[in-house]
Amino acid sequence: MQSVLITGANRGIGLEFVKAYAAQNWQVYATCRNPTLSLELKSIGKMVKILQLDVTSQSDISQLASDLNGKAIDILINNAAIHGPRDSSSTYGNINLEAWIEVMHVNAMAPIKIAEALLPNLLMGSQKKMVFISSMAGSISLRGSQPHHKTGGPYIYRTSKAALNAAVKAIGFDLQSKGVSVVALHPGWVRTETGGWDAPGSPDHSVAAMIKLIDAATPNENGVFLNVDGAVIPW
Ligand SMILES: NC(=O)c1ccc[n+]([C@@H]2O[C@H](COP(=O)([O-])OP(=O)(O)OC[C@H]3O[C@@H](n4cnc5c(N)ncnc54)[C@H](OP(=O)(O)O)[C@@H]3O)[C@@H](O)[C@H]2O)c1
Repeated sequence: MQSVLITGANRGIGLEFVKAYAAQNWQVYATCRNPTLSLELKSIGKMVKILQLDVTSQSDISQLASDLNGKAIDILINNAAIHGPRDSSSTYGNINLEAWIEVMHVNAMAPIKIAEALLPNLLMGSQKKMVFISSMAGSISLRGSQPHHKTGGPYIYRTSKAALNAAVKAIGFDLQSKGVSVVALHPGWVRTETGGWDAPGSPDHSVAAMIKLIDAATPNENGVFLNVDGAVIPW
């Protein structure tokens, strides 16, 4: 049986990944901060094993690795993230340092620590795929290229995803010889708490499109950053 582990699985895009893989009868390891409160996740069915994980807690990460010791994971989807402030505290001149550190931890550092901790499980899997849900907002090259880019901000979210992307590129080099595929994906602008409820895209369409990209990923393209439509996003 194929298996997938998804972080931030209790709502939004993460929850949609859980539904999609469970519907294909995969073994789904769904991680979230508060399993008891994750009612929709709990209702999906017996294919879903819910595991507690605050991605910023090193002891939670160690416990997760210990609980999964000896179990193969075909695909790891590092999805959990926070946007951080959307007000002036994420603009030049006013950047809130505490918020910046928190968002960097959740969005850039935690996914890498989880990818380190679960590498033995991935190497036991038949697919060996490491997926990082990033954001086009982290593209340095695209900054200023679109009409709605009137400012440099929000600095906090953008820099966190740019840092994640830099690490994804590096991990792609380090794991290619082990046969691990490493890819960063932009899910599109999707209706969730992070994307906002006016976003044009639905989580189920985004996830269906990303699963096709994950299916097609190979170590030969390691460290690539793909839009949900399959187009390469410049770093
Ligand atoms: N929606 C978009 O338009 C869009 C666009 C570009 C990129 N993305 C990316 O897509 C991914 C999924 O976002 P989404 O739109 O589905 O957002 P969302 O609905 O706000 O969900 C975020 C998820 O991350 C979890 N999370 C946050 N901090 C965590 C922590 N410390 N430990 C564990 N889990 C934590 C949340 O759990 P709690 O319920 O416990 O808070 C929640 O499950 C993110 O990487 C985001 O940056 C989204």
